[in-house]
Amino acid sequence: MKTRVTEIFGIEYPIVQGGLAYLAYAELAAAVSNAGGLGQITAATLRTPEKLRNEIRKVRTLTNKPFAVNFAIARHDGRYQELLEVAIEEKVPAISITGANPQPIFERIKGENIRTLVLVAGVRQAQKAEQLGADAVMAVGQEGGGHLGRDDIGTMVLIPRVVDSVSIPVLASGGIGDGRGLLAAFALGAEGIEMGTRFIATQECIHANEKYKQAILDAKETDTVIIKRTLGSPGRVLRSGYTLDIIEREQKGETYEDLQDVISGKANCRYIYDGKETEGFGWAGQVIGLISDIPTVQELFNEIVLTAEKGWSRMSNIIGERTHK
Ligand SMILES: Cc1cc2nc3c(=O)[nH]c(=O)nc-3n(C[C@H](O)[C@H](O)[C@H](O)COP(=O)(O)O)c2cc1C
Repeated sequence: MKTRVTEIFGIEYPIVQGGLAYLAYAELAAAVSNAGGLGQITAATLRTPEKLRNEIRKVRTLTNKPFAVNFAIARHDGRYQELLEVAIEEKVPAISITGANPQPIFERIKGENIRTLVLVAGVRQAQKAEQLGADAVMAVGQEGGGHLGRDDIGTMVLIPRVVDSVSIPVLASGGIGDGRGLLAAFALGAEGIEMGTRFIATQECIHANEKYKQAILDAKETDTVIIKRTLGSPGRVLRSGYTLDIIEREQKGETYEDLQDVISGKANCRYIYDGKETEGFGWAGQVIGLISDIPTVQELFNEIVLTAEKGWSRMSNIIGERTHK
């Protein structure tokens, strides 16, 4: 598979593993990069420069392929700068940025040999990223897991809109979990995909508790809800008594301060690490409706490529038949 994304990032398949708070560590990132995609580790949840440095070095012991470090900058309270310095010192091949204005990051890495991806949820953000010098944007539709844009635009409309609005390559994100999704992304004009939720249900996502993984297998596409909408930072999670309670409290008008403890990273970890479903929550996208196994990352890539090839021949039959009528 050859697109501008494979060329810019030096990868075999234009498949990026999303930054996954508390889950994207060296084992998963290296597995994705070894399978030919772009794996990522998430700086925000590594927190200290030393931990990030160790994790970057660990990735390098597990793969010699390109990988990226994700900067979800809103989550750092401004402390991302020292983590960014580590990424620069360690000469990471690529970074991805999301959550807030990426301008300071672009200013700091100017002249460094670091490829950049910006995760956006709308046309304006994508254009801003292009102006700042991003190598590519990943546009996430409202089906996606984790934090989303505020406008509820689905992937099917968002991708062609972003493709038509920028000249840098666009990766489709949100609701993609298999080879059909990859083909659909190409059909919409994207040159690659980013997947988050699908990678949680893989063997190499070793930090996710079995209950979280099992819930993703058992759940249907209707089993997610959006929390934090009233706080201005909507995010898609697995539906549970715990997450429905958050929404109820939001509807009653509770503020960020009131809800802080139940929506915190700690609350996230209580479920995704410790499996305590009554004490925490797990981010997940609607694509859970399409996930029914826990393959290795390599098996997942094999499936995606095979299904995309089959889908392509099916599509060319349909289009071919019409042309010949
Ligand atoms: C558990 C989880 C944690 C996430 N954490 C981050 C993060 O720290 N940084 C980030 O850029 N995106 C994060 N995201 C968003 C993903 O990178 C990706 O954009 C999203 O999952 C795409 O939608 P999908 O889940 O339908 O594949 C997270 C998503 C999930 C499911």
